[in-house]
Amino acid sequence: MTRWSVRVDPAWSLQAWRETARLALQHRVAPEQLDWLQAGEASLLDAPALASLPTPAAGSAAIPVPQAFVALAGTCLCHSDPQRLPLLYRMLWRIVHGERGLLTNPADPDVLRAMALAQAVRRDSHKMKAFVRFREVPGEADAFIAWFEPAHHIVDRVAPFFARRFAGMRWAILTPARSVQWDGQQLAFGPGARQEDAPREDAREALWRTYYANIFNPARLNTRMMQQEMPARYWKHLPEATLLPRLVRDAGDRVQDMHDRQAQAPRRRIPQAAAPVAATRAGLDGLREAAASCRRCPLWEPATQTVFGEGPADARIMLVGEQPGDAEDLSGHPFVGPAGRLLDSALRELGIDRGTLYLTNAVKHFRFERRGKRRIHSTPQITHITACRPWLMREIENVRPQVIVCLGASAATAVLGAGVTLKEHRGRWHSLDDGTRAFATVHPAWVLRQGEGEAREAAYRLLRDDLRQLLDDRHGR
Ligand code: URA
Repeated sequence: MTRWSVRVDPAWSLQAWRETARLALQHRVAPEQLDWLQAGEASLLDAPALASLPTPAAGSAAIPVPQAFVALAGTCLCHSDPQRLPLLYRMLWRIVHGERGLLTNPADPDVLRAMALAQAVRRDSHKMKAFVRFREVPGEADAFIAWFEPAHHIVDRVAPFFARRFAGMRWAILTPARSVQWDGQQLAFGPGARQEDAPREDAREALWRTYYANIFNPARLNTRMMQQEMPARYWKHLPEATLLPRLVRDAGDRVQDMHDRQAQAPRRRIPQAAAPVAATRAGLDGLREAAASCRRCPLWEPATQTVFGEGPADARIMLVGEQPGDAEDLSGHPFVGPAGRLLDSALRELGIDRGTLYLTNAVKHFRFERRGKRRIHSTPQITHITACRPWLMREIENVRPQVIVCLGASAATAVLGAGVTLKEHRGRWHSLDDGTRAFATVHPAWVLRQGEGEAREAAYRLLRDDLRQLLDDRHGR
């Protein structure tokens, strides 16, 4: 029996495998005559290369093969088991030699094995889609790199998914055996890489961890399922992986806590005897720490964290907003989302350095409604403003600003009193009891809500021109 050595390159390519299999079939080479070699391997038996046989003339009879087998072969080839190559050729041989319905026999050992290999490849592909985490490339705008360690040769198979999903980004996925890049137009595949070639943690991972810790539901924790769904290979590079030991350890206590809380009557109103806030002498750091566990109103519960004020402890000017938004809730810092960016540009236009201001909010937890996966801002009620006001008063007592600017109606209520409407008082100076001067203006989020065009421009001018009053030397910037 003549033996032939055969190599498929790359070993996961359906096209390369089909050309090889077609050549072998057309020369009537039986499965047992073939030595399938891996990359870099030589034939032990010194068998001549199948590729040395003449390619059949163009137009020679095509070999019809069921489409389902071609699809199965394409998936199986991505498996890392070297035996998949002889397995698939054996199945093909059987199909063209009288067993056309082979795939319909699920008890056949070859069919069973091929199905299991395909299943493993599908599972690995699914994990790659779920667990790839891109990191920003330092110093490059909109360029991202991810490191991933798949179990099988799935990069070529899964890359089109990422090209569709992140079409507008430039990205690369590096794996030990293969890499792929997307430049916004096309995919380019290359050799494997090292983990060090991918950037280390970027800033958004801290954000993601905060969010993950917040949405982690201890009552639904099932560690067995978790380990099954997230074998270490996949999750060891995920940013949230570092949190899991603590979240799992604390889950029992948190569930107990949830049970205890469920036993309480629903709280529609702020408890009368709300806990006192820390004393002024605690200083800003002491206040911030105490506010982190504030339970004076129900807003703490769905929110991620308390967003306390920030800025120099002796700032001359304090800006008071309404409440943190989605981005602030996740990051823990005030005015870092879209409204904050609009405020920044108004300050920049006026030449006011944001770093000299103390920025805070009337309400220090994000109030929102869930719509599907989105969290939509919801205006705080007077009860929330009242419950949170002692924190604001302590901040004012500590910072002792010369000027307070109230951004929007909620801040005006908290600082100037409930009767002060923006319609009547916008831009007008007030003196507080302790002599601090204050005025109210529109909120940057309101400017954003005016849509595009002239309406937005006019709203922006209102805000900027009111803030211009801060340039007056009397306010000692
Ligand atoms: N809007 C606010 O009032 N405060 C913030 O911190 C962000 C948005």
